[in-house]
Amino acid sequence: MPRKVLVTGGAGFIGSNFIHYLLDRYDDISVINLDDLTYAGNLRNLADLEKDPRYFFIRENICNFPGLQTVFKKFEPDYVINFAAESHVDRSILDPDIFIRSNVLGVQNLLKLSLDCEIERMIQISTDEVYGSLGESGVFTEKSPLDPRSPYSASKASADLLTLAYYYTFNLPVNITRCSNNYGPFQFPEKLIPLTILHCLKGEKIPVYGDGLNIRDWIHVDDHCSAIDRVLTDGIPGEIYNVGAQNEMTNIEMVNTIICALKELRPDLPLTEDSIVFVPDRKGHDRRYAIDPEKIQKTLGWKSRMPVSEGIKTTVEWYLNNVNWLESVINAEYLHYYSVNYRIGNPLPKL
Ligand code: NAD
Ligand code: TYD
Repeated sequence: MPRKVLVTGGAGFIGSNFIHYLLDRYDDISVINLDDLTYAGNLRNLADLEKDPRYFFIRENICNFPGLQTVFKKFEPDYVINFAAESHVDRSILDPDIFIRSNVLGVQNLLKLSLDCEIERMIQISTDEVYGSLGESGVFTEKSPLDPRSPYSASKASADLLTLAYYYTFNLPVNITRCSNNYGPFQFPEKLIPLTILHCLKGEKIPVYGDGLNIRDWIHVDDHCSAIDRVLTDGIPGEIYNVGAQNEMTNIEMVNTIICALKELRPDLPLTEDSIVFVPDRKGHDRRYAIDPEKIQKTLGWKSRMPVSEGIKTTVEWYLNNVNWLESVINAEYLHYYSVNYRIGNPLPKL
């Protein structure tokens, strides 16, 4: 019997890459993608799988317990991997409520049903942001204290604690993965990398928060997917695994790397140092993230493969080859969010 994997939030950036990753590698599985198609969920990300008999899509919200229960009963999944979440820090500053609903109450529903249905493994996809902000030195290990600073990271930390509570109290076989900042195809252009590419293509200035010296630790989404696969196969129940590729960069360095890649691929674009504009800082902006991935490397034999220079180049190429995808996600909701977040009257790009 093929193993059944319920992927929640599979129409988003990482979830859709993960579904492709699984179906590319394994014939003997089926994937049920449950997603409520919020602004960040996009079935175009999975259009190539529409006719794949191993793939099913269900539109449902993880906050709707009866609806979720029906899906668990109908498909009887062996594994549950939860990507579904509100994922953008800036939106959590503008409107935290939905973050608590989806990222905390939704996870409680998934945990409860995973227990009721005796799921073999439930993986909660978390983030390094639960550890808070680092100074100039040090790295996050799995033993670092939780110290979330934004409504987004606080909601993710809450879900982590609930997930662990189900392990300790009910023996539910869970894992938590805490990955650093992802980049790659299908990322919604509210996040730094696709937003930078979009602005360069539109001839708009790239908004960099504060002094541009905040540091993020970047990983290609395929490397994140392979780490989740390792955890699903061999992770020890109850364990947390940090995932990262040890690529720390300031935001200015990252934006300049993207500009360089674009200049090579699209010499016609008018890109100069003036393409960047420093805008008011994000409230409570975490200064630095850095993940120590030693545990998953040593215990599960995982390692990242994609060097960041190559990964950024191929990512830029992907967006250049998929301008239609980029344009399709720029709708009225996006433009409204953009004008509120960046406090500008005349929002982004003439398309
Ligand atoms: P995303 O915003 O691109 O996708 C989220 C998906 O979840 C969307 O398809 C959306 O429709 C769906 N969704 C949201 N709320 C839902 C609900 N209540 N019910 C059903 N579906 C819902 O996010 P992403 O960047 O792919 O992140 C996926 C997960 O990975 C999140 O849990 C996030 O916290 C975590 N994570 C992200 C990063 C990153 O760099 N993007 C890094 C580490 C961890
Ligand atoms: P983001 O992609 O939103 O990821 P996260 O906040 O989860 O790390 O942001 C990455 C970094 O880029 C972060 O330090 C904030 C910064 N940033 C900007 O400088 N300008 C922007 O317009 C955005 C969206 C982010």
